[in-house]
Amino acid sequence: ALPHQVKIVEVGPRDGLQNEQAVPLAAKIELVHALAQAGLQVIETGAFVSPKWVPQMADSAAVFSGIERTPGVTYAALTPNLQGFQAAMAVQADEVAVFAAASEAFSQANINCSIEASFERFMPVIEAAQANHIRVRGYVSCVLGCPYQGDVPIADVVRVAEQLWRMGCYEISLGDTIGVGTPLQAQRMLGAVAERVPMENLALHFHNTYGQALANIASCLPLGVATIDSAVAGLGGCPYAKGASGNVATEDVVYMLHGMGIQTGIQLNQLVQAGAAICTHLGQRPRSNVAIAELAK
Ligand code: HMG
Ligand code: MG
Repeated sequence: ALPHQVKIVEVGPRDGLQNEQAVPLAAKIELVHALAQAGLQVIETGAFVSPKWVPQMADSAAVFSGIERTPGVTYAALTPNLQGFQAAMAVQADEVAVFAAASEAFSQANINCSIEASFERFMPVIEAAQANHIRVRGYVSCVLGCPYQGDVPIADVVRVAEQLWRMGCYEISLGDTIGVGTPLQAQRMLGAVAERVPMENLALHFHNTYGQALANIASCLPLGVATIDSAVAGLGGCPYAKGASGNVATEDVVYMLHGMGIQTGIQLNQLVQAGAAICTHLGQRPRSNVAIAELAK
């Protein structure tokens, strides 16, 4: 059955801005503030990854140190290894995430190791997080296709998701990294994973490269999934997935959910303004149909 309420995980400041031209630190901080004001409860604020690999995230510590925190909001960070975890703890990230892939080639390209080796790297991160009472999210990339391998068997997605779950990740986010999936495929994939990981611990993380993200989300909602990742203004992509465009736009997801009678706790008008402001810094128009329509009013 449809959920009554959906948790939106706003990944714009991380997934969005990691693949855009660099924006000033002050603009990032302003974006995080505006998102919290709009009612976002979970904001992926930065990534503690190699600055040589992803220079756009090199100032993540400064973002975390610079923000004024809204009580109740979770400010999360990507941490691929113990070094990243320690950096995240030094600036009081509330939650961290490790990221694996269902495709071997993508794992190599993105984090420079095999899927199996990535689990070995994540174990100490999860142990350290548990010792610090910090929750760990686990991402699975390429759940509906891989830029190198093409098709990805559902069994591989299930295996990686279940492994992260067993290792102690409290939430597994299923990433259509290059936005190639279609609705029935998305449904089948989610249904298969949900046989091994409880639905309430699963999230959808769909990029919108082929314009399918909203349709894919809509097709999955009746299965009961109640956590959706999105980026304000449809920002971003992935530096290791050539041609990948941004995440599904938060404005579009919120508009659709509210129209379906599903609560999010988010103020759409404030969200649209938050997206417009960061787009001004980027010299772009928002890649959200809802934002474009609302701004034209
Ligand atoms: P590596 O080169 O294999 O690691 O990188 P290493 O341990 O051999 O270290 C090499 C150098 O990196 C050393 O520096 C380390 O200090 C440094 P050097 O001695 O050469 O000067 N280093 C670090 N620096 C800062 N923070 C760290 C860190 N770790 C090592 N945490 C590593 C392995 C994972 C670090 C690297 O491959 C990396 O940073 N990759 C970044 C990948 C990334 O950020 N991708 C985008 C995010 S994932 C994504 O977008 C997908 C997602 O949205 C879901 C979806 O859409 O599918 C989540
Ligand atoms: Mg992503």
